[in-house]
Amino acid sequence: MHVIGGSASTALAERISRELGNAPFGIPFVKRFPDGELYVRVGGRIAGEDVVLVQSTRSDQDVLELLLLADAIREAGAHRLFVVVPYFGYARQDRLFFPGEPVSARALARHVALDADAVVTVDLHSPDTLRTFGKPAFEASGIPAIARLLRERPVDLLVSPDKGGVERAKRMASILDRPWLALEKKRIDSEHVELSLPAQLPLDLEGKHIVIVDDVISTGGTIVEAARLLKRHKVGAIAAACTHGLFLRDAFERIKAVSDALFSTDTLDNPAEKASVAPDIAQIIVRDLAHA
Ligand code: R5P
Repeated sequence: MHVIGGSASTALAERISRELGNAPFGIPFVKRFPDGELYVRVGGRIAGEDVVLVQSTRSDQDVLELLLLADAIREAGAHRLFVVVPYFGYARQDRLFFPGEPVSARALARHVALDADAVVTVDLHSPDTLRTFGKPAFEASGIPAIARLLRERPVDLLVSPDKGGVERAKRMASILDRPWLALEKKRIDSEHVELSLPAQLPLDLEGKHIVIVDDVISTGGTIVEAARLLKRHKVGAIAAACTHGLFLRDAFERIKAVSDALFSTDTLDNPAEKASVAPDIAQIIVRDLAHA
């Protein structure tokens, strides 16, 4: 088994190779031609080998690099290609909101999987997207990784900022043996949300250590509103935790200003305190793919 790290996921790919018993690890050569077109080249003796290609698709350039690398790995004679997309971009457009739109998540899934024997990703916005890859597809969760970080810290309550995140909050709550609740969320536009507490609370919030858990932090609007709402109820400390930390523009600073700690996994590079999903991805590769 060889591991190749695309330029969006080099550090995580190396961690995955270590989790796979120090599997040979390579970084491809990537450059741009003068006209802006992308060029990639993979090295190493991968003919006849199973190859794990790791590349998050945060930007359109990341998607293109993944497609070129997958083709290069096939051309180099790899036996099987497992494509790991730790952060799968476009995942939030997973259905039609208005007529005339694409289901972007499905469109990307089909293409990312073209040269792959199987795909592994982490905390998709909607698990239904897994079925659209058209190949065996597996989803790791960022929750166990973040729970490993939180285990040594004071946590009284896990909070999901919306109903869509209930399963994540419940899973974290069950690992840490703590209660959870989900806020009511109304999205005003792509940057603004209105949040409120549910009628029934599992405990009195005053003085408590709260962790807000989300799949993605993008503009930070959701977490900032959630933190403000909780502060109005005199909680003791607020931490924000997410699987995918995009932290657009000044999101990181805005969240730091209203919280006491900020955690994310390493599916994306960002300045938050990190929990690695490498063990969780490696477990899927070993358990579900290597001997298939
Ligand atoms: C929405 O359904 C997601 O789970 C996240 O809550 C959302 O994408 C976060 O976005 P932002 O940081 O821009 O509020």
